[in-house]
Amino acid sequence: MADYVSEVMIDEIRSANDIVDFVSEYVQLEKRGKDYFGLCPFHREKTPSFSVIPNKQIYYCFGCNKGGNVLHFIMEIEKLDFKEALKTLADRAKITLPDMNSATNEKEIMLKKEIAELNREAARFFYNTFLSDEGSGAREYLAKREITTKTSRHFGIGYAPNEWDGLYKAALERGFSKEAISSSGLFSLNKNGGFFDKFRNRLMFPIFNITGSVIAFGGRLIDDSDGPKYMNSPETPVYSKGRHLYALNFAKAVQSKQLFVVEGYMDVIAMHQSGFSNTVASLGTALTENQARLLKKYAEEIVICYDSDAAGQAATLRGLDILKNVGCTVKVLTITDAKDPDEFIRKNGNAAFKKLASKADSLVEYKVSKLKEKYTEDTVDGRKALILEIAQVLLQVDVSVEREMYIEKFAKENNISESALQELVDTKLGRTPSTGLGKKTGGLRSESSGKLSESRTYSKCVYDERMLIAFLCMDNNLLKVVEKKISKDDFTGEENKMLAEIVFSALEQGKPMLFSNLLDRLEGPMASQFAALIQKDCATDNVRDALNSKLTEIVHDHLDLEIEMARAEVRESDDPIRVGELLKLIAEKTALRKQINN
Ligand code: GTP
Ligand code: MN
Repeated sequence: MADYVSEVMIDEIRSANDIVDFVSEYVQLEKRGKDYFGLCPFHREKTPSFSVIPNKQIYYCFGCNKGGNVLHFIMEIEKLDFKEALKTLADRAKITLPDMNSATNEKEIMLKKEIAELNREAARFFYNTFLSDEGSGAREYLAKREITTKTSRHFGIGYAPNEWDGLYKAALERGFSKEAISSSGLFSLNKNGGFFDKFRNRLMFPIFNITGSVIAFGGRLIDDSDGPKYMNSPETPVYSKGRHLYALNFAKAVQSKQLFVVEGYMDVIAMHQSGFSNTVASLGTALTENQARLLKKYAEEIVICYDSDAAGQAATLRGLDILKNVGCTVKVLTITDAKDPDEFIRKNGNAAFKKLASKADSLVEYKVSKLKEKYTEDTVDGRKALILEIAQVLLQVDVSVEREMYIEKFAKENNISESALQELVDTKLGRTPSTGLGKKTGGLRSESSGKLSESRTYSKCVYDERMLIAFLCMDNNLLKVVEKKISKDDFTGEENKMLAEIVFSALEQGKPMLFSNLLDRLEGPMASQFAALIQKDCATDNVRDALNSKLTEIVHDHLDLEIEMARAEVRESDDPIRVGELLKLIAEKTALRKQINN
């Protein structure tokens, strides 16, 4: 989780902050048996389902499944990153963190501070120029676009004068160093090695970071002079564009469950002005994973609302997948009869936008509507291809009830039989007949890119192995028992291999590995999963027995998984020799499975 502070130190800091004490500052806790309960601070509820387990120093909510140790709690509740959380807890316990600032680091930090200061001065300079006589053209331009004085002040909109060194002179006058000037992104070098203002005769939009400091600028032409419509600050020591979202500092303050993501500065500004302050922009770049995570941190639902042109729609599709992959709930709002949200609102007003927003498409609906645009021809082949692609999209729906609903809807809409679509989806999901082992395995997807991780057997392996790890943390002496049956390489999937690596190698080196030590090494979602496991499934008086029976189960699980994988390969393969080998393997493993069963 962190490289700059040793595990021992993390352990010390965590141990110095009792979880019950700490959580009590946020939640009113009541003792019930050994545990404490209270109203969950992470979701709305009327009856307490948030628990704190003092002897394990963890928390877990039965309602929203969030959980972890005191570090995860503070990260989640105060929206801090790991370092910040550690620092806060260290301060609280009066523990001094090691000085992480080497000499070069110190220099870097000083430079960053100076650039931040220069940015602030520049914003002030542009703002004052905007209000001066020189700024009259810029003010008229904004007025023409129906941006009020109040709004322009709120966003700190300024004007870069039509001069070569207006800002440069001001920066020198205030004593900024050459280094700060050259790395601020506000100036360009001329042939003689001197600097000149990069932004000239442009409307200036300061870009703020999450805490409201100016970190960069965007500048827009206001007349038909030469040059690109927008010029943006380059990457600098204080700004990297894929890591920020324009206006998130304002949008986060509204604490709305929903955030709109638009393309441009003017869209954000128009949206905020007409009451949709829960709007941010990705700033002309395709949405990055980093930005997606940032969005997830501040909202439950993200509504993409890009321009209606082809570029905007292509960016929408890319953004959707990025957002979905980091676990966001996404919707798409398609702007009709205007090119972007700014134009739409100016033309139709706030109420019309609200109405449009209420009809935003879910991810699946949007993707299917795009498919329909692609297959307009009503031929047999065209329809077949359309159904196939719709089925493909439906595979992404994790909840089966939801999937059934869509099947019904799209079958109707596209005039195809519901059962045909259902069957196609089923086949694609690789639903196979029962394995003959007396229990159902979920089956693998039949495409070669099929996701093994979605099979039930696979999930069972992952789950049982995590239980095993939990038991190991409850009794560190049981490693020898485990190692007789399985090694750390036998664990299923990257995550479990990593977990096993952490636990096994600590124990092999004779270091203790309690839940809390393990949790220190885990990120939020995984920590929550573990806290759930510990709270719900690990109650036992006899850890050794529990671990032994789990081990037996895991040996079974692994055989089942091998059989399942071989079956999937049989479905895929058209190599008769390989199929022969696989069938033999399946027979052997099945026999083995039955043998240990008896
Ligand atoms: P208006 O044309 O004033 O309504 O601007 P807009 O905010 O609607 O911007 P637009 O939809 O044209 O572009 C979206 C975003 O892409 C802008 O806010 C800029 O961040 C970026 N962008 C647009 N044009 C350019 C350009 O010419 N160069 C660069 N580097 N970025 C641009
Ligand atoms: Mn626009």
